[in-house]
Amino acid sequence: MKRVMVIMGTRPEAIKLAPVIHALKRAEDFQPIVMATGQHKDMLASVVARFDLPVDHELDVMRPDQTLSGLTARLLAAIDPVLEAESPDITLVQGDTTSVLVGALASFYRGIPVGHVEAGLRTGQMMAPFPEEANRLLATRLAHLHFAPTQRAHGKLLEEQIDPATVFVTGNTVIDALQMELARQNQESEDPSIHSQLAEELGSDWKEHPFVLITGHRRESFGPGFEEICSAIHDLATRFPDFRFIYPVHLNPRVREPVQRTLSDVENVRLIEPTPYGPFVALLNACHLVLTDSGGVQEEAPSLGKPVLVMRETTERPEGIEAGTVRLVGTQRERIVDEVSRLVSDENAYREMAEAANPYGDGKASGRILDALRGFFEGQIPRAW
Ligand code: UD1
Ligand code: UDP
Repeated sequence: MKRVMVIMGTRPEAIKLAPVIHALKRAEDFQPIVMATGQHKDMLASVVARFDLPVDHELDVMRPDQTLSGLTARLLAAIDPVLEAESPDITLVQGDTTSVLVGALASFYRGIPVGHVEAGLRTGQMMAPFPEEANRLLATRLAHLHFAPTQRAHGKLLEEQIDPATVFVTGNTVIDALQMELARQNQESEDPSIHSQLAEELGSDWKEHPFVLITGHRRESFGPGFEEICSAIHDLATRFPDFRFIYPVHLNPRVREPVQRTLSDVENVRLIEPTPYGPFVALLNACHLVLTDSGGVQEEAPSLGKPVLVMRETTERPEGIEAGTVRLVGTQRERIVDEVSRLVSDENAYREMAEAANPYGDGKASGRILDALRGFFEGQIPRAW
């Protein structure tokens, strides 16, 4: 029985690792040990509850408006004693957050091999996304096993001289998670509770008006970027009074301040708290289109046939753009307004995006990750260090 330490810090890590944790739990040859680093406190708790994740170690590192250095230092000090006590056979980290970087580094310091889920995403620009591009590069250097979501990500790793025998194209586990959630929502007994949660926040007629679903949180857009984004939403709400603009606002105070200041009084804008995963998927399913800077949301929405406009200047996820499911619209007010207006007004442009196929996987990524782990423990895969 191999003991696998799964480290997760933020909402998207928990969502994307949930199917892996369940697959490990079901397997007879693995035992998952789950560590929630506490980088996100509130936003992680609802995912843990929704997926019924067995958390063995809950750390308490989050501080209001935390700095990257403060967070990094607290994480390193808190993760190491758990690794020492548990001495796992391998650590799994997912994505590009500070928890990923520190989880991989602390494991390296203890000589514990590292598997990196969602490896090989790159913009090629150290400052965008910040600090995620650096976290990904560093995690790659520290990992033994690289689970690339796409062929492109696989290619990026090989360009960086990573041994091809250690890289596996798995698809993105976010699709596994989405399929788990949709299966639950398709069971009749699940629907009413989700509907009533949303009705409480948005009113019982929330499904009756067409709406744009909005999320945003990227650090490189803090300040002027968020001012532009909020102004664009304000303009759009005025231009399209029959539409609603539903925005679950991230808990980061640097996001909440401009959003609330600019948009809280706009009649057809609904600012709500971050939505638990179940209701969020229901919103994704019911919306007309998505305006976001989120990585996970742009991977999920195309599976539900929703066009995604990404408010960023650069992307590590060009697969969606190539497939036609996603458009990069930057963070300038005018461009965002033009691009949303085009999709709302031009049926053909809308249909083209809505009908394009999702390039991020088939919902079987977790199984492929477990197969690769078995190969590693059977000695078929060379160790990086
Ligand atoms: C983090 C990740 C980012 C990821 C995002 C997912 C880093 C550097 N950033 O960004 O890559 O895309 O999560 O959402 O790893 N807060 C709460 N409660 C919560 C969560 C956050 O109050 O449950 C507030 C706190 O004031 C906290 C702040 O948000 O200090 C920032 O949290 P942090 O994890 O540092 O950055 P995010 O912007 O959430
Ligand atoms: N999500 C959620 N509730 C929300 C907003 C997003 O459950 O109110 C989910 C979404 O379905 C996706 C993930 O959170 O799976 C994306 O997280 P986020 O945008 O915070 O981070 P990123 O993916 O950009 O790293």
